[in-house]
Amino acid sequence: MAVYNLGSINADLVYRVPHLPKPGETLAANDHSRGLGGKGANMSVALARAGSETHHIGAIGSDGAWMLDRMAAYGVETKYVAKSEIASGHAVISVDDAGENSILLFPGANQQIEDTAISRALDCAKAEDILIFQNETNGLDQAACLGKSKGMRIAYAAAPFDAKSVEKLLPLIDLLFLNEVEAAQLQDATGLAPENLPVSDVVVTLGAKGARWYDTYANTQTNIPAISVTPVDTTGAGDTFTGYVVAGLDQGMAMGDALALAARAGALMVTRHGTADVIPTREEVRDFAP
Ligand code: RIB
Repeated sequence: MAVYNLGSINADLVYRVPHLPKPGETLAANDHSRGLGGKGANMSVALARAGSETHHIGAIGSDGAWMLDRMAAYGVETKYVAKSEIASGHAVISVDDAGENSILLFPGANQQIEDTAISRALDCAKAEDILIFQNETNGLDQAACLGKSKGMRIAYAAAPFDAKSVEKLLPLIDLLFLNEVEAAQLQDATGLAPENLPVSDVVVTLGAKGARWYDTYANTQTNIPAISVTPVDTTGAGDTFTGYVVAGLDQGMAMGDALALAARAGALMVTRHGTADVIPTREEVRDFAP
């Protein structure tokens, strides 16, 4: 089995700051670095490091070759990543001393993925494969329709949140990832609580409180307890969690076991500075003793 991920690829320009900048404030950073990021690339790296065959579908500009090299080095198949005339996406990320962040996003090539590139990639997918996407690229509707027509299981991590996109895609997806705030926003937009959404599995992440899985067919709710760690940087932890859940499912794990594995991966991730470059491997997650 394999996972096809239609997802963003960003250069993450990370600034360590004493506090998150306020409107109008000029703030000196204590440190800065450039790394591989983007919700899509982070999930692909998490999937690959968790041991799943991972095909990334996306686009970079002529400035992005280093990002593709890193993804390939981390075990992600990149032949479906197109070269665009537009500059690669990038994110300016402030991280404060408590590990919280604020992110400014330039979408760039991530929003210029051609229809033909998506269909060429998904032509190669099989019914038993999983398709995943987030909200940082174009082409979600097309990918979801193609994936559905092939009988693939479709997962959607609805971040950055856009209620209209989510509402449109609800009939096509099997697994939805939201955080607490997004779940409330979706409920405002649709009138539906997570347990009533027309999606078979809904996972709501609750930050330091863990996560909750709604099996809407069985009408059950399962809490996934948080693992207690001292966070230094929460950036990319949600992406790591999602990638590990989907990798677990791809590898035949039951949802509860995939969620427990992902909770360990996410907890380990928040103890590290950085995004895709520092996503833990399956062995590191196994040996993690919080
Ligand atoms: O979720 C974290 C990611 O959000 C960062 O890597 C950044 O690129 C933005 O896409």
